[in-house]
This record gives sequence, C-alpha cells and structure tokens, in this order.
Amino acid sequence: MNHSQPAGPIGPIGPVLVSSRTIEEYRAHFVLTDAELTAGPILDCPGGASEFGAAVRAAGGSCTSVDPRYTMAADDLARIVDDEHERVVEWIARQPDRFRFDADGTWERATPWRRAADTFLADYRRDRAAGTGHYLAATLPELPFEDRRFALVVSGFLLFTYADLFDEEFHTAAVLELVRVCSGEVRLHPLNDTRGRRYPHLPALLDTLRARGVGVRLCPVRSTILPNDDRTLILTVSGA
Ligand SMILES: C[S@@+](CC[C@H](N)C(=O)[O-])C[C@H]1O[C@@H](n2cnc3c(N)ncnc32)[C@H](O)[C@@H]1O
Repeated sequence: MNHSQPAGPIGPIGPVLVSSRTIEEYRAHFVLTDAELTAGPILDCPGGASEFGAAVRAAGGSCTSVDPRYTMAADDLARIVDDEHERVVEWIARQPDRFRFDADGTWERATPWRRAADTFLADYRRDRAAGTGHYLAATLPELPFEDRRFALVVSGFLLFTYADLFDEEFHTAAVLELVRVCSGEVRLHPLNDTRGRRYPHLPALLDTLRARGVGVRLCPVRSTILPNDDRTLILTVSGA
C-alpha cells in the first residue's frame, strides 16, 4: 500500500488490535534466549494472532496462548485477523514519519506480520480440530490457572499500549494476575501507548509490586518497529 500524508494529527489506533507479531519480534522485545524458549511452560497473554506459541512448540517448548478472541471458530477468527491486518497497515500508512516503509511504499513489517498470522491461523485450526488446548479464551484481569503455573509469562501490546481504553486499576489488577500465575519472570513490553507516550502510572505500579515482594527491573531493548519502545519491564516473582 502506498502511504500518503495524513490530513490531520493521527490518534490512537482505536479498539484493541488483534496483531500478529513474529517470533523474532517476541525474542527482541522480551529478550528471550534459545534456552528460555524451552526451559519451562510459557504463558503468552495476550496471544492475539502471533506465531509465538507455535514457534515455541516447534522449538520443543511448551506455550499456552490466552486471548478473549479464542472463543471464535477458526474461520471466523481468520476473517477478523484479515480485517485487523488491513486496519493496522492503513493506520501505519498514515504515519510516514514514524514507521519505516519499503521502496514500494509497503510498511516493512506488513509481509512478516501476514506470514506470522498465517502460521498462527494454521496452528489455531489444528488446535481447534485436535483439542490440544494451546489457545485458551480468557480475559485479564482474571486467568483460569492455578498460582505459579508458568515458568515465564510474556505480555505484549495490551497493557500500557491501550492506556486510553483501560484505567490504572485494570492495569494493576492485570499485572498482579500475571504475577500470580508465574513462578519465574513476567516480562511486559512496550511501556508506551500506541502514540508513543509513556504509561503515566508506571512509578505507582512499580511501588505496588515492590511492596508485594516482586523484583522489578527495567531492561533496555531495541524495538523492531518503534525506537521509542526501548524498555521491557521484567518482574521476578518472589522465590524464583
Ligand atoms: C495488539 S494484540 C497483541 C497480540 C500479541 N501479543 C502481539 O504482540 O502480536 C492485543 C490483544 O489483546 C487482546 N485483549 C483485549 N482485551 C484483553 C483482555 N482484557 N485480556 C487479555 N487479552 C485482551 C485482543 O483480543 C488482542 O488480540
């Protein structure tokens, strides 16, 4: 798609996008090593249409992906994923100063995201047919898992990203729920909203976590998409 100059200021992306980040993007955003991919059960919440869970399993690891959209039949979800891909490509095309584009005007991540979506959809279809339970429908701030169920929890592009849609109370409850189901580390990225603004309640959230004995670290990372998304919050669950 050719990008054109926006008619006015670009607002937030709107309703929460069902995006399809690649395994390479997850690895960069969550500073994941090969060993961590297979070290223990991983929770990806929200999973969206990412290929992360399928890639972890292909590498020999264990991953459960959680998203409210996983109530849907595969064909219905495929239609949503197609529409959402168009929506994000169109939103990004209106911001030529913010994102990078190929010589033909295509957003440089459009093709990898499309490929990742196709990998996800094929895996989701198999999961639905075989009942393997790799994709579970649930909605933060409540997860249907026992305490400390996962060695590693990754959560990308919901919390902080949509601070225009979810209030501080939701964010705190959601992060505490991710901590509850984790026995090792919870990694959250990015810490900015869709317009690149820092989450304003981060200091208060970190205080709440520290008061509960959760280790808190802000890790510098290099985003594959937006240079400003340069930090990942790493929480170490007490006793890990
Ligand atoms: C931008 S996508 C991120 C998906 C994936 N992590 C990625 O980076 O591509 C956000 C996802 O959050 C899901 N979502 C929306 N509200 C949620 C909630 N309260 N709890 C869990 N997931 C939610 C949406 O359905 C959507 O798939």
